[in-house]
Amino acid sequence: MTTRILTGITTTGTPHLGNYAGAIRPAIVASRASDVDSFYFLADYHALIKCDDPARIQRSRLEIAATWLACGLDTDKATFYRQSDIPEIPELTWLLTCVSAKGLLNRAHAYKASVDKNVEAGEDPDAGVTMGLYSYPVLMAADILMFNAHKVPVGRDQIQHVEMARDIGQRFNHLFGAGRELFTLPEAVIEEDVATLPGLDGRKMSKSYDNTIPLFGSAKQLKDAIARIVTDSRAPGEPKDPDSAHLFTLYQAFATPEQLAAFRAELLDGLAWGEAKQRLFQLLDNELGEARERYHALIERPADLEDILLAGAAKARKTATPFLNELREAVGLRSFRRAVQGNEGGKKKATKSARFVSFREDDGSFRFRLLDAAGEQLLLSSAFADGKAAGQVTKRLQAGETLDIRVDDNAFAVWLDGAAVAQSPAFADLQACEQAIERLREALAPQD
Ligand code: TRP
Repeated sequence: MTTRILTGITTTGTPHLGNYAGAIRPAIVASRASDVDSFYFLADYHALIKCDDPARIQRSRLEIAATWLACGLDTDKATFYRQSDIPEIPELTWLLTCVSAKGLLNRAHAYKASVDKNVEAGEDPDAGVTMGLYSYPVLMAADILMFNAHKVPVGRDQIQHVEMARDIGQRFNHLFGAGRELFTLPEAVIEEDVATLPGLDGRKMSKSYDNTIPLFGSAKQLKDAIARIVTDSRAPGEPKDPDSAHLFTLYQAFATPEQLAAFRAELLDGLAWGEAKQRLFQLLDNELGEARERYHALIERPADLEDILLAGAAKARKTATPFLNELREAVGLRSFRRAVQGNEGGKKKATKSARFVSFREDDGSFRFRLLDAAGEQLLLSSAFADGKAAGQVTKRLQAGETLDIRVDDNAFAVWLDGAAVAQSPAFADLQACEQAIERLREALAPQD
């Protein structure tokens, strides 16, 4: 089965070496696995909660987008987009807001920390707290639930938010799912063996400690930052203890085992710190040099970046648009036209009389069609080697799982486990296509 991984990056800063080793590099590696479908996005609506400087928001979005692409994210495989290019996300946020308990949000760490600080300072508990900060977890739940993510790689500070997304999703399923799981319930994943890099002073590398090494500064900036790494005062020739030197920890995050063993031996043998820093510079420059060039080339072509991100948003919306339509239906925001049909008994009839018809091709393969109540074809399946495989697919389509429907060129396909299993005919326009998707959902809805 394909695992859907999703994570967001808040666009308020410039990525540094610690972000690279701790989040970007592992995410890109994970996105390459064949059984993974990854959704990575710039959480720029979340950025607005923390930052009211438009220039900084804009610069950070550009830098983060260029960083991920320069580091090798393959946007043909992964879906890479800006949160603010998906209007379905704020719309879903509202649907979720309406089922989120206020008490749940009162318990969110970020909000509680602000309240505690205010109380300590003798201020009004909610001084300076915006609704954006308060509702932060609901927006994040919408990010995750919109795409039915299974796994959400995050830092420890975000685990609570992913758990809230589960809670909210579960509540929505219970209220509106009529027995089926509208939303997949996500799980937070904490990468235990991913490097947490020490900064220049040995504390965790973090913008708030001002101890970072820039990721894509010039070679000179890299060299200057490395020169500022704090070491002990052992003189050249004196043996150094690799295990107590954070310079060694930094080296370790990028070295092969052979390089690391050689570096350790040299330090024990009295390598001067100046030389050791030169070794680290070489190692980082080798790892990042090419990506740095790609990064600067991308930053100079913002219009191309815009195109790449808009294409990513279009790809994401192929899932989001039909799914949000389904959710609107579920809560009762339905077309009046269909309600009239429903009153005439149209809905029940459609449910009963849609049918699967299987047949055999001349080459011996098996296929099926799904016909709607009026006998019009909704789906033609792919070719299956045997009748059993085809039968299993029809069974799963009727099992009430959330349907993975992808729209392309006024036609849609139904996907299971990362592969298209059936295709609709081409419709005259998008509206006809969306209406056919409605009929498909009715035909496949569990019957009561
Ligand atoms: N709140 C996350 C952070 O600050 C960023 C984020 C927004 C996110 N939406 C998300 C992470 C959805 C994972 C999934 O790190």
